[in-house]
Formats: sequence, C-alpha cells, structure tokens
Amino acid sequence: MAALASTSVLIIGGGPSGLLLSQLLHRQGIASVVLERRSRDHVLSRIRAGVLEQGAADLLRAAGVGARMDRDGLVHEGIEIAVGDRLHRLDLAALTGGKTVMVYGQTEVTADLYAARDAMDGVVIDEAEGVALHGLETDAPSASFLKDGTRQTIRADFIIGCDGFHGVSRRSIPADRLSLFELVYPFGWLGLLADVPPAADELVYASHPDGFSLCSMRSPTRSRYYLQCPLDEKVADWDDDRFWDVLCARLPAELAARVTRGPSIEKSIAPLRSFVAEPLRHGRLFLAGDAAHIVPPTGAKGLNLAASDIHYLSTALIDHYRSGDDEGLERYSERALARVWKAERFSWWMTSVLHSFPEKGGFAARMQQAELEYLLSSPAAQASLAENYVGLPY
Ligand code: APR
Ligand code: PHB
Repeated sequence: MAALASTSVLIIGGGPSGLLLSQLLHRQGIASVVLERRSRDHVLSRIRAGVLEQGAADLLRAAGVGARMDRDGLVHEGIEIAVGDRLHRLDLAALTGGKTVMVYGQTEVTADLYAARDAMDGVVIDEAEGVALHGLETDAPSASFLKDGTRQTIRADFIIGCDGFHGVSRRSIPADRLSLFELVYPFGWLGLLADVPPAADELVYASHPDGFSLCSMRSPTRSRYYLQCPLDEKVADWDDDRFWDVLCARLPAELAARVTRGPSIEKSIAPLRSFVAEPLRHGRLFLAGDAAHIVPPTGAKGLNLAASDIHYLSTALIDHYRSGDDEGLERYSERALARVWKAERFSWWMTSVLHSFPEKGGFAARMQQAELEYLLSSPAAQASLAENYVGLPY
C-alpha cells in the first residue's frame, strides 16, 4: 500500500472501539485511518464477552453492522442469580419497562465491523509496529510506525486512542496530566468455550462458598462458562473434566444436572481489574474503550462502555466537521466519564456481591450474605440491578 501522508481522524487500535468509530465517521463522509498492531487473524480470534445493551446494539445498527447480530443474536429478557442451591430469575424486561439485552459475541461484532470496513474500502493498516504519537499538544498531531520494515508517518486533525489497556496512547500522555484509579481483584476467571447446548436458556450468575461461576452462551449449541480461580492458577492444570466437575459442584443441583459436558474449544484465565484514567483528552488525543477504562467482566460492561464512548466521540467529531461546533469535543471527557463511573460502580458491586473473598473475614462474608438476601427478596434491589444490567441511558 502507498504511504498515506494524512487523514482527518487517526485511530490507534483496530478492536471494536476503533473499528466502530471509523465506520460511523466514514458513513458521515469523514476520513479516518486505523492503525492496528496485530494481524487481522489475531484480532479476529480473540474470545471476549458477549452481552450487548440495547444502546450498543442500536449503535451497531446505526453503523450498518446490525444485520447478522439481528439474525443470529439471542435477545434475553432475563438472567438468573444462583445463591448456593437456590436459583432466582430476574425478569429484566418486566423490571425495566421492556428493556432486554442481546447475547452476541464480541468476536462476531469485530468480524462484522471488519467486513463493513472492507466493503467501504476503509483503511485499516494491520501489523503496524512501534506506533509512536507526536505533537499531541499542537494542532498537527501525527503517528509514526513501522509497516513491512518501512517507517511511515501519518498526520491528522485528531488522534483517537482505541488501543486497549496495554496500548501506547494512554502512555503517551505525561504522567502529571493523568489521574489513574485502579483496583486489582485477588482472583481471575477461568473461561471455557465448548460446542454443547447451554445448561439454561438464560445467563446464570452463581455465588457459592467455593467461588463464583457463570453460565453463558454464544448460541443454542455453543456454551461459555467461567469459574472464579486463584490468580496463580495455570490453564494447563485444568483439564476439561476438572473444569466440568468444579463447575457442577458450584451450581444448584437442578442446574448442574442440565450441564452438557464436551471438549473445550478454548480455555483461558483472565485477571479482574477496575481501572479508570482521567481525563479522556490530552490536547488532540482522545481516549476511548479499554485504553481509558477496564471493568471486571461480572456486569458484562466492557464492550458496552466502549460503545458509549464511541457514541459520544463520534457525535462530537461529526459536529466538529459538519458545523465547526466543538462543544461535544470539549465535553467528551466529562460526558463519557459520567457514564463510565456508574458502570464501574455496577461492575465492582456485581463482582463484590457474587465472588468469594475468604481473606476479607467473617464480617464481610455476613454483609455479602445479607446483600444477596436483600437482592433476592426486594423488588427495589432487583430493579436497580436490572436497570444497570440492561444499560443506563447515554
Ligand atoms: N498500536 C496499535 N494497536 C494497538 C497497540 C499499539 N501500540 N496496542 C494495542 N493495540 C490494539 C490491540 O491489538 C487491539 O486490537 O488495539 C486494539 C484494542 O482492542 P481492545 O482491547 O478490544 O479494546 P477496545 O476496542 O476498546 O474494545 C473494548 O474489548 O477487552 C474488551 O472488555 C473489553 O469488550 C471490551 C472491548
Ligand atoms: C460471556 O458470555 O463471555 C460473558 C457474559 C456475561 C458476563 C461476562 C462474560 O457478565
């Protein structure tokens, strides 16, 4: 490909945040280039979460990438909460005046976005190594990178950091201009994907003295399960039989009896973290998605927060290019963070209430028990969970 000298919006990172932004901008005639460090095969093979709020699903539709989601995605009107041997259904739709969630894997969302970028001849430069950002505090920012052994530079009006938690964008902001807030949890999630029918029709979030577990799915024939596990656990020590045995021991007996076992397609351990960087703007650089914030997966908010950031940011950029109105850009950080912190609170709360924290002692354990009893007996508490789970308004 010929070296591109400049574009309007230069997006670092070709995950869901970066691709969705480039797609929304392109549909409004705004040029962008996406720089992605990894190969496309690598990006498309990552297994991530799979629950979309209505706002996120609507944004994908607005970006012209909703067709396969609407055909293959599963609309869920409820979730189940298991406490020990008890199983309680929360009717999300009834508790929220009709709102639902869409179960559709992030892997599929990313594939749909790449297909749409290709169909519109969108420029996504993959295997862009050593990306470095320059001139962020000037009105002519740029990024340099190595592609096929050649150093290239692209200038832009704005640079958008969509390069995830380990990306270069956030680290390009001087440390004294950022505040970082972080909580690292003393456990991880061991995930298993298998081509077996799910144990239940809806997702089951299960609290048990031995640890949390989650029954999720990708389709009527593909299941995704997770187990809370110690951080020093090794995937190699978990053969499939051990995983299924531990899962079934943590679920209510009636549910365990419905678990179909099968060979795993993928198994991996992910640490749990809450993290927010403030503000989301430094000069001409804006941060979005995992580059700016991380939530533990318990509330299924990671991809949904990326979507709401991109909603605020795409609207702001479109206003800038259409009418020279910069109010959205000026207020992006404040607007996005207001929603981010509420989702951080919810994800932290879901994590705290459902996982085992033996190191916290007896009082904390009783508080957690009381919290769960309250949740399962109070329509107000259930309405609050449901309101957050289906997604707060943009
Ligand atoms: N240069 C270019 N690209 C980079 C760099 C870099 N230095 N560092 C990372 N990247 C790429 C990664 O390879 C990845 O493809 O940026 C992309 C970031 O994608 P994600 O991590 O998926 O982040 P985001 O697009 O914000 O999506 C958020 O992903 O992790 C989940 O829970 C999260 O579901 C949420 C979603
Ligand atoms: C998933 O299916 O991967 C999943 C679902 C819900 C969560 C987290 C992960 O809260």
